[in-house]
Amino acid sequence: MTSDPFTLPAILTHSPVRVLFGHGLLDDLGQCAREEGATCALLVTDPGIVRAGYADRARQSLRDAGVDVFLFDGTHENPTTDNVAAGVTLARQHPIDFIVGLGGGSAMDCAKGINLILTGGRTIADYWGEGKATDALLPTILVPTTAGTGSEAQSFALISDVDSKQKMVCGDRRLPKEGGLRPRLTILDPQLTSSQPAAVAAAAGIDAIAHAVETAGTTRRNDVSRELSKQAWLLLSSSYGTVIVSPGDDRARANMLLGAHLAGAAIEQSMLGAAHACANPLTSQCGIVHGQAVGLLLPHVVRYNCAKGNNVYADLVDDPELLAQQLSKFLANSGLPTRLNDCGVNRSRLPALAALAGKQWTAGFNPRPVGEEELLEIYASAFA
Ligand SMILES: [Fe+2]
Repeated sequence: MTSDPFTLPAILTHSPVRVLFGHGLLDDLGQCAREEGATCALLVTDPGIVRAGYADRARQSLRDAGVDVFLFDGTHENPTTDNVAAGVTLARQHPIDFIVGLGGGSAMDCAKGINLILTGGRTIADYWGEGKATDALLPTILVPTTAGTGSEAQSFALISDVDSKQKMVCGDRRLPKEGGLRPRLTILDPQLTSSQPAAVAAAAGIDAIAHAVETAGTTRRNDVSRELSKQAWLLLSSSYGTVIVSPGDDRARANMLLGAHLAGAAIEQSMLGAAHACANPLTSQCGIVHGQAVGLLLPHVVRYNCAKGNNVYADLVDDPELLAQQLSKFLANSGLPTRLNDCGVNRSRLPALAALAGKQWTAGFNPRPVGEEELLEIYASAFA
């Protein structure tokens, strides 16, 4: 890439989300919100971000710009319908006209879920799928504090039903100015990722890498998504090892944050594949962290997809076997599990997991068709 770590690639002009990228830009949040018309903002975050001091900085910046702000820090990992409902209850007590999501993918997705219910009422289940919002959504700024999901580039939120644990993907692809679920603006401030615990950085980073790899091969990919996947892969694959060994390396952290954003933007167009289809049941049924689950499966999905001699990842690498080996090395070097057997999953559960994986939306976009039988084959190859 370029020698200036804060140069944005030209391909991002194809994204409707405006991006600010640089160290310390969290303090510009208030001015940015004001410019987008905010007068009273709901700040959606989680307790860890409050402890890190970022929520206070965000509040101060908003107040300094003349924007009233109310804090909701009730987001938890894999946000639930209950988290969303609690945020909506708080928001309804104030004249909220703007939403800020500050945190990892969970806080950003929770902010989107709150936006859906606050503007349109009903329940999250009513928005499960694409384009179910009937009212214009509130304008939003999203500020990621992990280099992972890329949710800040997307019009989708993943919210889990508190009872059934079913993960519901809710999306509205209208442009931000037309009231869709994508943010008006995202602030990529690499200073914020310095507070990630090592295990979180490892799992989030491998999730971003999985986004770059899966989007590069899906049946939905197009010229724009292919370029986004390629540039994301270059940034992420060259910096992942460095941030694991040297978390204080500013350049590497900036590359990871931008790479995760580009990979998130690629998902908007290309969707995902079998690694995510197989990972979701492992998270919902077995409690395995999303990044761990998707990272563990990815080398096996790469091999499955290229088994017939068709390198669907040719935009990223010349040899898919070397790609699979490099992905396994990333897992081993960052201390992430490499086998399902090491995650406490009993082999007898695999058929039921494969049945659930087959129902995942993303299974339909995998470059090589997958049904329950093939997904079971992928789980089995990842088991031991
Ligand atoms: Fe993911």
